Amino acid sequence: QQIDSLEDYRPAYHFSPKNGWMNDPNGLVYLDGTYHLFFQHNPDSNVWGPMHWGHATSTDLVHWEEQEIALFPDSLGTIFSGSAVIDKDNTAGFGANALVAIYTNHSHEIEDQKTGLHQTQSIAYSLDQGKTWTKYEGNPVLPNPGIWDFRDPKVIWHNETQQWIMTLATKQSITFYASKNLKSWERLSEFGEGIGAHGGVWECPDLLRFSTAEGEKWVLLVSINPGGPNTGSATQYFVGDFDGKTFASAHNDIRWMDYGPDNYAGVTFSNTGDRKLLIGWMSNWEYANDVPASTWRSGNTIVRELGLSKEGDKWLLTSTPASEIDKVSEVTTKSKSVELTNEADLSDAIASFGNTFDASFTLKKATGFHVTLTNEEGETLVFGYDAAKQQYFIDRSKAGDANFSDKFIHRPVAPRLVQGDDLDIRFLLDHNSIELFADGGKSNMSTLFFTKKPFTKLQIAADEANTLDAFQVKAIR
Ligand code: FRU
Repeated sequence: QQIDSLEDYRPAYHFSPKNGWMNDPNGLVYLDGTYHLFFQHNPDSNVWGPMHWGHATSTDLVHWEEQEIALFPDSLGTIFSGSAVIDKDNTAGFGANALVAIYTNHSHEIEDQKTGLHQTQSIAYSLDQGKTWTKYEGNPVLPNPGIWDFRDPKVIWHNETQQWIMTLATKQSITFYASKNLKSWERLSEFGEGIGAHGGVWECPDLLRFSTAEGEKWVLLVSINPGGPNTGSATQYFVGDFDGKTFASAHNDIRWMDYGPDNYAGVTFSNTGDRKLLIGWMSNWEYANDVPASTWRSGNTIVRELGLSKEGDKWLLTSTPASEIDKVSEVTTKSKSVELTNEADLSDAIASFGNTFDASFTLKKATGFHVTLTNEEGETLVFGYDAAKQQYFIDRSKAGDANFSDKFIHRPVAPRLVQGDDLDIRFLLDHNSIELFADGGKSNMSTLFFTKKPFTKLQIAADEANTLDAFQVKAIR
């Protein structure tokens, strides 16, 4: 598939709305063979504005089809972020297997803004796979107790206590609520004081249960804006325990799911069994409204599968592209070892794929290296590893338009979190984004850039003699 022009920066295999603005993924849920993605959407303009829930569906987690808008603003306000569940046992009384959305209503009324009670939680249900929705007449189901930032409910079923648990962002903390029927909610506990990053407001949390060799572990994802490691928006996580009432973190250090500047508000799908499949919004509030665009703005990250991996005495969260992507990609280059003394030119492997590929390699020593991607305009995107600082980096300063906002950070970095000798690298390019997964998805960086021509050259150089192994390129169809 030859792409001649990247004129309007639309990704090829990541979801983006046909028209208008998009931010957070919402209501991710799997139902009868279809993955549903709802999203923060302003259909009337390419900047943030009155929020609706847009809707898209996919059966392979890579190709998405946009559907009719699911939820429109109402008398309680616009529709902010939230989640969706399948109510198998009809706890809410909307019908067995009803698809129920739990979201924030955000009132723009001056009176509500004055009191600070403008954010409340509401529910709506669909009995036809998300095509049409009915809002519950008793909304809001969780009124505002006097907290200015009170939003982004993520709901899961907790089997041991036979109730729904809502994880809610409350200013710079997370508050947990419980309900038997999704309609009346009781406050359980609060987490976050004196722990984690607090450079900005906490948003879009998610609570995940993992089984590990050492028993059950819980992970709490918390998006924060600003205050991310490379400025602006980012997602931190805590590994710990949840007993049905209270979450306790097992560590005090700050950990980031993705160090790149462009992965925010990521949450996981409901109803996928033990698999934790996450989608993030591939942008950053520092400049999201200013990035070069036409009639639409913003795309998502690739779907990632989350895991837990032990490094020394730490449990680290890993993210790797969901294996579904392998089913729609085709291996086009697979090479044996290459001795890296000078720069190796691997352009042949990518020249005809118009930035729509998934590449990986291993370096046998943890020396510094850099990969340079160049297009016919001479624009370059460079990424690699700085051995002295033990940091991965992506340099987008010369990758097309990089000066539309002084907040558009040019060279984000991520620490290497493991000790081993092998550097294990995978990167996915899609027209205007690179998603870098290093060391099995422990140090990740999702990063946008704005070139108009695809890269046709790929060069790899190491700071010292090294061996490049298992270089592979897959074209994504
Ligand atoms: C996060 C966020 C959410 C909110 C939504 C509004 O990006 O600020 O907290 O619900 O966006 O669009």
